[in-house]
Amino acid sequence: MTVLPFRDSFPLTPFESLESNEVEITEKLWRLCLSQMLRNQEKKIPLRAFHTKRLGAVRGRFQVRKDLDEAFESPVFQPGASYEAIIRFSSAPGAVLPDIIPIPRGFAVKLNRVSGERLLNQGPPERCQDFVCVNSPVFPLKNTRELEEMMEAIAKSPLSVAAFFASHPRAAYLFARHTDWLLRELSSLTYSTVAPLLFAGRPAKLRFVPEKPSGLRLPNPFNPNFLHTRLKEALSGSGRSFRVEVQLQTNPQTQKVEDGTSMWSETQAPFAPVATLRIEKQQMDQGEDSSLPEEVNRASFSPWNGILEHQPLGNLMRARREIYLRGWRHRKRVREQEQRARRRSKSA
Ligand code: HEM
Repeated sequence: MTVLPFRDSFPLTPFESLESNEVEITEKLWRLCLSQMLRNQEKKIPLRAFHTKRLGAVRGRFQVRKDLDEAFESPVFQPGASYEAIIRFSSAPGAVLPDIIPIPRGFAVKLNRVSGERLLNQGPPERCQDFVCVNSPVFPLKNTRELEEMMEAIAKSPLSVAAFFASHPRAAYLFARHTDWLLRELSSLTYSTVAPLLFAGRPAKLRFVPEKPSGLRLPNPFNPNFLHTRLKEALSGSGRSFRVEVQLQTNPQTQKVEDGTSMWSETQAPFAPVATLRIEKQQMDQGEDSSLPEEVNRASFSPWNGILEHQPLGNLMRARREIYLRGWRHRKRVREQEQRARRRSKSA
């Protein structure tokens, strides 16, 4: 059994292989993420090193299909099981940018009160299962080594970012190919886990497909937060629902686990519906939901907040295990320091 030498070691599954210098690369990625969090702290914007801008915080209900195929069952996916969910919509960069800039959008779903043996024996205490997705079926970069190069370029200058994409045309193509140039309303996008996780004992990708996408509207260049405004408007009128589908790997040669850019053919590996995520009509950020934005800001959303049967797979996922956990701890520490400082200044 190969065990990764992080502080909290864990076994590799038979579907994975370790990249060379993986631990060192992950440490470098963490340092780059921490620097971004410190820059955000200085600017007094939310700390997350990626997906800093929250576009919406909503409640939902995740309902597993009653006729779920037995092969798909896990402690979370039991026929007819139903979970309260919270969802954080976000924009991918580590900065707060106007919504008119077409960039990947995040969709982090947390199912509460799930049963099953947990993947992490440290970190947030809740018994949750998270699915942390973006509106693209693939990651634009092959692996953590390429991500490290890109993050170093981002930290240097816009010119270095341009140079990175010039020397990585496939990444540029994948960014362009899977960007939502039409800037559609957020509940009209399809979101994917992008990187695989275990499902029914096999590598699989999960996606959330909107049942009834809303019609197109021109973006509003005068409102930097128009995606938030439109989601709020949409949900105050009616509910939305997503079909949750799973794509089991059928051919490890073409549907790769260690390559983030690997597009799994739907002909070879068709998606099957396993659940529905229903977002009821709601007054976002108001009334009983007025504390939800703060709750999702504080929360840890990580593909590793979940159960053994849904272990995330591949080098990108393995790096996320360490980085999201350290990021959440850092955010928690900063918040506690700020609270102490506020209490001191009040009592002075
Ligand atoms: C493989 C596909 C990936 C997807 C689909 C993805 C998606 C997301 C999403 C949706 C969020 C926002 C979560 C939230 O709302 O709290 C997020 C946060 C984040 N992502 Fe990723 N991500 C991916 C890979 C990575 C990798 C490889 C890294 C490594 C550096 C990374 C670093 C981060 C960090 C540092 C955060 C902020 C975490 C926090 O402070 O809680 N992501 N990601």
